[in-house]
Amino acid sequence: MTTPWWRGAAFYEVYVRSFADSNDDGIGDLPGVTSRLDYLKRLGVDAVWLTPFYPSPQKDHGYDVADYYDVNPDYGTLADFDQLVARAHELRLKVLCDLVPNHTSDQHPWFQAALSSRDDPHRTFYYFADGKPDGSPPNNWRSAFGGPAWTRDERSGQWYLHLFAPEQPDLNWWNPEVPAEFERIVRFWLDRGADGYRIDVASALFKRKDLADVPMVKDPLSGMVRPDPAFLITDQPQVHEVYRKWRQILNEYQPQRVLVGEIFEPQRQSRYILPDQLNMAFALIGVPWDAHAWRQSIEVDMNALRGPGVAPSWTLSNHDVVRHVTRLGGGSTGRDRARAALLLLLGLPGQVFLYQGEELGLEEADVPPEARQDPLFIHTQGHHPGRDGCRVPLPWKKGEPNAGFSVADPWLPMPPGWDEFAVDAEEASGTSMLSFYKRALALRRRRSPWLPASIGWGPAPEGVLTYRRERLTVACNFLSRPVRLPACGRLVLASAPLAAVRDGRLTLPANSAAWLDSVPRG
Ligand code: GLC
Ligand code: CA
Repeated sequence: MTTPWWRGAAFYEVYVRSFADSNDDGIGDLPGVTSRLDYLKRLGVDAVWLTPFYPSPQKDHGYDVADYYDVNPDYGTLADFDQLVARAHELRLKVLCDLVPNHTSDQHPWFQAALSSRDDPHRTFYYFADGKPDGSPPNNWRSAFGGPAWTRDERSGQWYLHLFAPEQPDLNWWNPEVPAEFERIVRFWLDRGADGYRIDVASALFKRKDLADVPMVKDPLSGMVRPDPAFLITDQPQVHEVYRKWRQILNEYQPQRVLVGEIFEPQRQSRYILPDQLNMAFALIGVPWDAHAWRQSIEVDMNALRGPGVAPSWTLSNHDVVRHVTRLGGGSTGRDRARAALLLLLGLPGQVFLYQGEELGLEEADVPPEARQDPLFIHTQGHHPGRDGCRVPLPWKKGEPNAGFSVADPWLPMPPGWDEFAVDAEEASGTSMLSFYKRALALRRRRSPWLPASIGWGPAPEGVLTYRRERLTVACNFLSRPVRLPACGRLVLASAPLAAVRDGRLTLPANSAAWLDSVPRG
């Protein structure tokens, strides 16, 4: 049996609105992506995941879909999508679409019909329920964006459920017509050449049927009363039937198509990552820069999955979290650590998901409050800064207006000095973050197919991690001072220029990592 293409692959998340703008309106679009596929090929990735580009009122920047079968005019046309896929396939890049099955936009015709009357057949596509006798919502569930998870429909007096923004009503997957509609949608983009899907909030589709209140419990440590974390609103067993069905559909297509679930909790993943369901879920390393914490996080993710060759999909950043250069300390320290973190993760078995701009070393941008657009910021009345800071458009050209992204002002403002990290400047420099990413990805691509799917942790002083994967040894120094270790092999790649092997000892500068190869050159 040959190894499927996605095993060990490097995926790149394109946040379409902020990647590349082809018509200078300040908004990224599909032809923009197509025009930059060569760049992604040179970077050394295997596949591109496109965030939702479907018609949408953009209340959650595409994660509020008003039509699952078309392209938002701001982003292009169906023909533009076809061209993107055709060019990607010419370059031997795969293309994943983002499927949003948990909720629609409130502007979707299904929801508009549902609102029109209590007897409308589409009413049962969503969760409508009567409030409590005291006039409060049907239960105490909360929206992930703040406030109750229910909004009152004034016309009928009933409430509808939304685990996210009020403009994102949750679909009722218990109604068999909903899964039937999505089987058509799944086929639609596969028929147009998509190589698979990233599935938004993949474990949430079915809500518990009794719509019971979340019990409040007293936290034994703090004594505070809070929602019982063991109470499951979502993650109902019926969701697995849906993914088994989708898997059967995908199996009708050649070459192999993939399903990547947006599921982060390691303890859930083994129920989804199975030969008859999903291929992958995300292993997001969000812990602070500390050797113990990283080792534990890596081990939990590796132990969560079962099956031959099955390994995590390592992720440092995505469009929902603070960029990891900033999380790891910011500035040059953050960037040093980000380089080290990349080597640490790229040496592991499994896939890797990169988020646009991390290859340039971008930091979380400071977006002025009046320019912020994220519903998380809006619905928490600014208590949560929101996710706009990781979504600022990419800088392409140094010294040009708006760093070459667009002649018009970009949809989110760029902070001063953003063009220091422009692609053209970094491509021209051998020591840039971009050059480092290219070297690391190229080396990984050449070697990892021959390496086993397991690792062995090695002995290391406090604050340092080392592991071995057959001939490859990876060492990472989390400390703010250099360390010296016994070296088994020759240095093939280091995240810092001063790393060196001499007289059988590896010197690792502060916040750096290295790859060693134990097989002599020959
Ligand atoms: C996922 C997306 C996030 C979105 C949410 C609601 O978590 O990654 O961006 O806001 O789902 O669709
Ligand atoms: Ca545009």
